[in-house]
Amino acid sequence: MGSAEAIDPGVVAFLRAGTRGMLINGEWSSASSGKSFPVGNPSSEEVLAHVAEGDSTDIDAAVAAARRAADDGRWSDLPPSARSRMLNRCADLIERDSEMLAQLETLNNGMTIHVTRGLVQYAIDLFRYYAGWPTKIHGATNPGDPAVLNYTLREPLGVVGAILPWNGSIGASAMKIAPALACGNCVVVKPAEQAPLTVLRLGELLLEAGLPDGVVNIVTGFGPAAGEALTRHPDVDAIAFTGSTNTGKKILAASTDTLKRTILELGGKTPNIIFPDCDIETAVQAALLGFTYMNGQGCALGTRIFVQRDIHDQFVAALGQAVRAMKVGNPLDPATAVGPLGFRAQFDRVTDYLAIGRRDGATVAFEAARPSGKGFYVPPTVFTGVTNDMRIAREEIFGPVAAVIPFTDEEDAVFQGNDSLYGLAAAVWTRDLGRAHRMARALKAGTIWVNTMAWLDVSCPFGGYKQSGLGVELGPNSIDAYMQTKAVFVKL
Ligand code: NAI
Ligand code: MG
Repeated sequence: MGSAEAIDPGVVAFLRAGTRGMLINGEWSSASSGKSFPVGNPSSEEVLAHVAEGDSTDIDAAVAAARRAADDGRWSDLPPSARSRMLNRCADLIERDSEMLAQLETLNNGMTIHVTRGLVQYAIDLFRYYAGWPTKIHGATNPGDPAVLNYTLREPLGVVGAILPWNGSIGASAMKIAPALACGNCVVVKPAEQAPLTVLRLGELLLEAGLPDGVVNIVTGFGPAAGEALTRHPDVDAIAFTGSTNTGKKILAASTDTLKRTILELGGKTPNIIFPDCDIETAVQAALLGFTYMNGQGCALGTRIFVQRDIHDQFVAALGQAVRAMKVGNPLDPATAVGPLGFRAQFDRVTDYLAIGRRDGATVAFEAARPSGKGFYVPPTVFTGVTNDMRIAREEIFGPVAAVIPFTDEEDAVFQGNDSLYGLAAAVWTRDLGRAHRMARALKAGTIWVNTMAWLDVSCPFGGYKQSGLGVELGPNSIDAYMQTKAVFVKL
């Protein structure tokens, strides 16, 4: 564990409690197979805890519990104000335990304590925002033939399966659970095998809040066994997934048999486009944060930095200085800017990309220092001499690695920025108002940032163009995503 800050006693107690079970029907239970697996601390490379290894048998039990809870209306038939109060209570408990949750997440996935505190706050914001929704979900009376009364009812889908990534477990789980509950659904969560601990703690908090048994169930386990069983299950009405584009495609294919609604939030290769008329100093700092935030493991990070030719060398020099000044190290230390990658396979993947970039002819302009000793640390690295067709410019690396690519003018920036399989976000730096809005229209991405980076708000729709996703989340869009609309015609 880290020595930089006092470990929260709640974290110590949680980690001492032995193998963590799964949450099924309001009870914590071991896997039906009796198996468990270790989860690690990527900073120390030590085992942090053991968790139950759920498989399709456990998924069956969790889905059955969720189905019973959905069908008997123990949650969906509560008055909307009661569901609203419950979601606020969940937010209160997350807030009470926020430091514990942030530290536990940092220990488990290596995100810096600044980042995980932010993610916990995001989870609180999500529960509070969606706590406001149950009392505001309206149907409509529709104009039409006066011989009938025609209206619509908005109903929960029933059972929602949520499959989560490891890079922001607490935030990603709240992003699915809070709106699904606000709509009256029951949920089965499959956390990422590498970072399930804060999701399990969240499960304890939901029970403490008084959420009825079976409304939220959590099955820990691996993708092919537990995840795929959830995706294929005939009693699951929808799958909400955040993770890689490859796995997203598998999930979509596996859900076709039962025609489940699927909401996919996938990868990205965000273009960060710097025009010469911008505030260069601010743009440099933002570009730095843009590819190193979450240790480079975020779906919307600005990993393709397009710099107009006239300022290319000046910009690269300033970025180099900023990169070299970054502190890479223990993520629990508040002075740390970049921590380790999430786990060994991720470290290997990103290290491979550093070699691929060199092999394909790009130059490592500079890299930060890597701490010696244990831990899956990859130094923040900037490649120059990159062309947009190189693998390091096309594929999601998911580490603190950026490619700087020159462009000539607005048209060229739009062309290269859009020349990607992904379309999650794009950023533009300019003081020219007309250009800013032209670029916002021309870039094919779900979120556009002008003179800022990495902005997200619970009330604002978030979704990907092209292979960055399917469906739109957050704001009112998550309410639409987790509800069914029914039409009623009554002959008068
Ligand atoms: P992944 O997308 O394979 O894993 C995400 C979740 O899906 C995990 O809970 C996993 O157990 C589950 N899963 C895996 N295979 C499944 C299947 N066949 N059916 C149902 N569920 C399944 O991501 P992974 O392997 O952890 O990371 C690989 C790469 O994916 C990263 O290097 C990164 O490039 C990208 N990634 C992107 C994320 C994003 O937010 N855009 C998040 C996580 C990974
Ligand atoms: Mg993501």
